Amino acid sequence: MRIVMVGAGYVGLVSGACLADFGHAVTCVDRDPDKIAALEAGRMPIYEPGLDALVAENVRQGRLAFRTRLHEAVAEADAVFIAVGTPSRRGDGFADLSFVFAAAREIAAALTGHTVVITKSTVPVGTGDEVERIIRETAPDADVAVVSNPEFLREGAAIADFKRPDRIVVGTEDPRAEAVLREIYRPLYLNAAPILVTGRRTAELTKYAANAFLATKITFINEIADLCEAVGADVQQVARGIGLDGRIGTKFLHAGPGYGGSCFPKDTLALVKTAQDAASPLRIVETVVAVNDSRKRAMARKVIRACGGNVRDKTVAVLGLTFKPDTDDMREAPALAVIAGLQDAGARVRAYDPEGMDQARALLPGVAFTGDAYDCAEGADALVIVTEWNAFRALDLDRLRAAMRTPVLVDLRNIYDAASAERHGFTYQGIGRVKDCTAGQAS
Ligand code: UDX
Repeated sequence: MRIVMVGAGYVGLVSGACLADFGHAVTCVDRDPDKIAALEAGRMPIYEPGLDALVAENVRQGRLAFRTRLHEAVAEADAVFIAVGTPSRRGDGFADLSFVFAAAREIAAALTGHTVVITKSTVPVGTGDEVERIIRETAPDADVAVVSNPEFLREGAAIADFKRPDRIVVGTEDPRAEAVLREIYRPLYLNAAPILVTGRRTAELTKYAANAFLATKITFINEIADLCEAVGADVQQVARGIGLDGRIGTKFLHAGPGYGGSCFPKDTLALVKTAQDAASPLRIVETVVAVNDSRKRAMARKVIRACGGNVRDKTVAVLGLTFKPDTDDMREAPALAVIAGLQDAGARVRAYDPEGMDQARALLPGVAFTGDAYDCAEGADALVIVTEWNAFRALDLDRLRAAMRTPVLVDLRNIYDAASAERHGFTYQGIGRVKDCTAGQAS
């Protein structure tokens, strides 16, 4: 298949490289000449494990190319994916679709022969209808079908998610288009990845419903964690106790500082708007958005409490800045709100992140960036783990404590065991893990 991927951002680049790896001939198009020049020189615009090698190999094999103009590539293509950004619109939080519609117009002007245009960007319900209208208006004679094929890629694990998906959702009622999509994903037959063929609007909504459900699951366990702290219970044991029920499942039940990233915050907000506009409000998701927003800032207050109620002129060391490990993405990262809250309360903040510091620098004025975790802890009155990078899971606690002025450890990801941290001389605060009073009475 000859495939064009419009947009060489996170989703477009990973999807394009994986489709090339399946054996298709893929052209990734992006308007940004610097990005294309960098990609041609083998430099990735994002940090994603394994992506540089995958891109290099497929470029070498002649299956993957990068262009700034889409005209020639679209003219020859069997399938054109739209994978441009859909940021939250300033003001109302609705997804900004201007890049999607601009891409549709440009694609329409270049179409020849039968072509399937596939929206991979996360777009609100009904966007496929609008993309189709734009294409038919621009190119009334084009032999084209417009399909929704949402992505479910996690940053940091995107290549594995693309190659071993739980499912592939294809929104089309056109049998020819369905056949093209089945051919594109044929290499996954061996993995027996289920392909769900649905209506276009159903596919669009499925993506939002999946992300909103996962965000709800995280927010639920985060509130249970707060309750655990209030009543003397352990959220990790509660999570396991409920997660082993097959109807609930153990995944996405890790209590933490609130979800961040490029998808959950934006997609939950966009879904709330869609539902309000359809006069069918999603009150649960509205609450999830509000609870998660206030949680990030509440984490700063938690750190302040752990420091005895005052951080003025104290030094707080923050380990982990990105919204999750294995990415350099700082979008909606809880660290931003936590650090702002600490600075507002008068703290000096030192920080370290294995991959995110370049992105973080511009967003975090006044923060001292350090060379590693131990350097970060130097002279600190508290050490706060915000992102659970593997490099932070087995730190030498004696060395850390020796570097710090006051040995307070606030572990917002529950990666340390309270008892062992205390044995190393730390005052330890996790999330939802106060000592169970009944366990205390029994021993
Ligand atoms: C997510 C979806 O998982 C993916 O399917 C979708 O297409 C894009 O959005 P991603 O944003 O890369 O992927 O990250 P994910 O691993 O889902 O984590 C999102 C946020 O939730 C992170 O801030 C993470 O730390 C947090 N999280 C996740 C928790 O706090 N607890 C959990 O149990 C799981």
